[in-house]
Amino acid sequence: MDPVDPAALAAARAVLDGARRVAVLTGAGISTDSGIPDFRGPNGIWTRDPAAEKRSTIDHYLSDTTVREAAWRIRLESEMWAAEPNAGHHAVADLARQGRLHTLVTQNIDGLHSAAGLSADHVVEVHGTVHAVECLGCGDRGPMGPVLERVRQGEPDPPCAACGGILKSATIMFGQALVPADLARAERAAIEADVLVAVGTSLNVYPVAGMVPLALELGRPVVIVNAEPTPFDDAVTVVVRGSASDVLPLLFAPRSDGGSEMSTN
Ligand code: APR
Repeated sequence: MDPVDPAALAAARAVLDGARRVAVLTGAGISTDSGIPDFRGPNGIWTRDPAAEKRSTIDHYLSDTTVREAAWRIRLESEMWAAEPNAGHHAVADLARQGRLHTLVTQNIDGLHSAAGLSADHVVEVHGTVHAVECLGCGDRGPMGPVLERVRQGEPDPPCAACGGILKSATIMFGQALVPADLARAERAAIEADVLVAVGTSLNVYPVAGMVPLALELGRPVVIVNAEPTPFDDAVTVVVRGSASDVLPLLFAPRSDGGSEMSTN
């Protein structure tokens, strides 16, 4: 990826200058440097297999055993289990330690923001988590580990032990509703924060992408940090083109002397 443009970084730092309540929205792009592919980037999961996105709906999952068996195989082989938080995740956790993070809203299911040290009251996983399993029949919920072990031992589509219903990772698929309380927290973050920073997301998927126009309508500065263009690049205050793991440590670093601009030369 190209080196970060110092002028864009300085402009973004100026926007964050003095911001006491920063809302951060992340997408799959913040985890690619941890070895987890994104969806719509050049090597994204949907980019490589467009049909997979069409199959990734709750209706297909409920009605088609082969879709469920493929989903469990993908879960079993997922890069997420070996992934570690990268410098981008740690930079957001550092912002929280500085007392400047209002809320971290993530579309990611990998749990890496929590693994980087963010507490639950700072994190909203609006598309759920791969670290838990829920039964679509009785609603029973538990850790992913034991169910993955059943798949590893040869059950291709393990049913709920309590009611025999269909089990699924506690992620939100296309066609499923987001958790109203999570969505309310995300909206409140866009409304209450001084600045919104959108990182590693193509801003294609609603309702969460709606945080950006909501912040803009309220006159809040918005910074985008992304490897590729997004539909909102022309509307926001600053766009920093680059890798989240390179940019965020520079963007969220505390000011050395409490106010002067970081020197980039
Ligand atoms: N640094 C910054 N940006 C990056 C990096 C990186 N290291 N790696 C990839 N990107 C960018 C890509 O260029 C892309 O624009 O991150 C963006 C990721 O976009 P998507 O792959 O569309 O992922 P996301 O926006 O999180 O998707 C939203 O779609 O399929 C659903 O539920 C899924 O939560 C997901 C939702």
